[in-house]
Amino acid sequence: MKKNTFSNSVGFILAAASSAIGLGNIWRFPYLAAKYGGGIFLLIYIILVVTFGFTLMITENAIGRKTGLGPLCAFSKINKKFGFIGVLAFIVPCIIMPYYNVIGGWIIKYFVMFISNNASVSGDEFFGNMLANSPGELIGYQFLFTAFTTLIIVGGVQKGIERASRILMPLLLILSVAVAVYSCTLPGATEGIKYFFIPKFENFSLNSILAALGQMFYSLSLAMGIMISYGSYLPKEANLEKSVGRIEIFDTAIAILAGLMIIPAVFAFSGGNPDTLNAGPKLMFITLPKVFYSMGHARAIGSVFFILVFFAAITSSLSIMEAIVSSVMDKFGISRTKTSIIIGLLVFLVGTFVSLGYNILDFITIAEMTILDIFDFVSNSVIMPITALATCIFIGWFAGVNTISDEVELSGEFRRKKLYTVMVKYIAPIFTVLILISSVLSTFGIISL
Ligand code: PHE
Repeated sequence: MKKNTFSNSVGFILAAASSAIGLGNIWRFPYLAAKYGGGIFLLIYIILVVTFGFTLMITENAIGRKTGLGPLCAFSKINKKFGFIGVLAFIVPCIIMPYYNVIGGWIIKYFVMFISNNASVSGDEFFGNMLANSPGELIGYQFLFTAFTTLIIVGGVQKGIERASRILMPLLLILSVAVAVYSCTLPGATEGIKYFFIPKFENFSLNSILAALGQMFYSLSLAMGIMISYGSYLPKEANLEKSVGRIEIFDTAIAILAGLMIIPAVFAFSGGNPDTLNAGPKLMFITLPKVFYSMGHARAIGSVFFILVFFAAITSSLSIMEAIVSSVMDKFGISRTKTSIIIGLLVFLVGTFVSLGYNILDFITIAEMTILDIFDFVSNSVIMPITALATCIFIGWFAGVNTISDEVELSGEFRRKKLYTVMVKYIAPIFTVLILISSVLSTFGIISL
């Protein structure tokens, strides 16, 4: 069966960038940059993106394009003995997809709250109460989010994923610029901008590097099978090295824009107190609604913000679903439509279980983690670094760097080949071990990141 491909490298770049740009950019990056030294964090982050991130991304894209397969079967096509890496890479999206869709449901709910100008959304208790008390409604929104994703995936690579990215990415960019301009012109915002960009060496430590490493890894959608499955749709004549560079620029630019949307607004609201800024759900679902309602224009800004977050989240959700769907299609030879509907339903069922973790299933916890946190921990902090480590060792020491460089050279010179070789054999394995250790330790509160 001849696989679909993206129409050209621009289609691929937009699709891959729209996967990379997600909640990680919006709810983690600004917080980490502010906490870990501002400009110095940015610099370290960018260096990591163009070295370590570049290495892993080009590896995954090349594996996909070479084999023409999704993550589950790609590794065994190169070497049967290493097929287990494919299984690991396939498990990750299966774990992430359900809970990402639960969060997608929350985003729709918040959009609805803002557009209907319901100010109760800005109350401190609103978010917690919503999770605990309205599971039915949230499961409905979650269903909607999964249904949108599934419909686009049924549309296929060009007519579904590529088309959605071509429409939503420019919109996301325009809306982000609008919110950033609004936020940067609020009274008191300048302090926030300074806090974000001016290097603060006293806040910089080994932890900063670890945090930047973990963030970069997640933000570029690495070790989730995604870049393998998208790589398998990349036309052979498209320049792989240049495309990867553009995806990285796009993703980093949106992360910085997110910083400019969030940090100045939070600073203006809190009178310059950096402690008001937190990461994750709390920032997006508790702090920001409060900030928006304290500023005027809450209805407009809140709706625009949550629709842009929705665009960022749905395009990431597409990519994670495609990693699953393409793998199942390779393995069992079932049609795209059937596979997508079955996976969509399964995702919805598991997502419902995750949602109920805040309600009737709230007794299921491990080390105070809810079901959602447990899923997140197992995939992001454990299986992903292991997958990345195994991939680097496989390519660097068993399959050989030529497996990747031959593929890259099909469409032009591999300019950073030397850097790539040193990275994949020596440095990237060390980095992935560091990510594994630090993320496990920080989840259990042994170090704080
Ligand atoms: N890069 C994505 C983000 O920043 C990570 C991700 C991709 C998560 C796809 C889920 C699905 O949010």
